[in-house]
Amino acid sequence: MLQQFGAGVAIAGCGSATPDTSMSNEAMSRLVDTSDEWIASRTGIQNRRLARPDESLCTLAAQAGQRALAMAGIAAADLDLILLATSTPDDLFGTASQVQADLGATQAVAFDLTAACSGFVFGMVTAAQFIRTGTYRNVLLIGADVLSRWVDWSDRRTCVLFGDGAGAVVMTATQEGDRLLGFELRSDGSQNHYLNLAYTPQEKPLVDDITIGQGSFHPITMNGQEVYRFAVKRVPEVIEKALFRANVSIEQVDWLLLHQANQRILDAVADRLQLPAAKVISNMANHGNTSAASIPLALDEAVRQGKIQPGDVIASAGFGAGLTWGAAIFRWGR
Ligand code: COA
Repeated sequence: MLQQFGAGVAIAGCGSATPDTSMSNEAMSRLVDTSDEWIASRTGIQNRRLARPDESLCTLAAQAGQRALAMAGIAAADLDLILLATSTPDDLFGTASQVQADLGATQAVAFDLTAACSGFVFGMVTAAQFIRTGTYRNVLLIGADVLSRWVDWSDRRTCVLFGDGAGAVVMTATQEGDRLLGFELRSDGSQNHYLNLAYTPQEKPLVDDITIGQGSFHPITMNGQEVYRFAVKRVPEVIEKALFRANVSIEQVDWLLLHQANQRILDAVADRLQLPAAKVISNMANHGNTSAASIPLALDEAVRQGKIQPGDVIASAGFGAGLTWGAAIFRWGR
């Protein structure tokens, strides 16, 4: 175990997993009143993967985690912490422990972290605190969501946007420089109503004058235009702040890795930051918005395609429900 303070963070491996079932825009147009042209031109999405009823969040998360561990060359038994960023757990009490059991990570403590589409960035910063203080050496951070469970499949304004998946990174302690270069995290609950999946209680009288609320969660509701406005304003701001803290200039950024919500948001943010389109990582077309999974899923694909190389500087940012948003500037690799 690492005994002293001052350990740096390395990002040693990544992995991802998506369901086999793919749903095209054409199929979507047979479900709701929409078209491939509308979806592709407004969002950049062409396909999304959807989990079957027998595919659990835990299965996807564990698969992504296993692949990240294999790339990092770290055994599950050597993990100290598993963080599962998700808004769609299999169990409201938390799914991270099931992932821990599935992986055989017997020494790891595991817990869920909920910050919607910012979950991965919030998780990366959380994991880094444990590593930097010397508390834990090996952390598996997984972002996974099965939003298809909570989408209103009769609402064309939202159902076309989302897909299911999982992505993971292994973060380890290193004495050779800290690769999480800077970050900035933000929340604004006063705008919660623009995008939520809220619990609605129904009165249930028990005995005497004792009544409790027992209800269910709404399908996802969203004010698309407000969320769009929020993203294109706040995301460049938070990236600039994180770059400032990292002492990294925009010219030194190799890749812009944003939460994959909408190609137009990706383009607008890159434009404001004056980053060329060639530096923007996008897998929107194939996956849609996979919430907490989207950043590590896009990272994993770009690493395995050989696009992202060890030492590259990545400016990543998550944003979404809460509202929450945050940026992390990191160098890929050990
Ligand atoms: N197919 C066809 N028409 C659709 C449609 C669909 N899937 N969804 C909405 N429309 C219609 C609307 O009903 C509206 O019709 P009307 O003018 O007759 O009322 C019209 O298209 C324009 O709707 P609007 O909501 O103004 O579209 P938009 O240009 O804002 O695009 C989004 C909608 C959702 C693509 C866009 O607002 C967006 O991407 N917002 C951010 C959402 C997001 O990223 N959320 C997740 C963040 S983590």
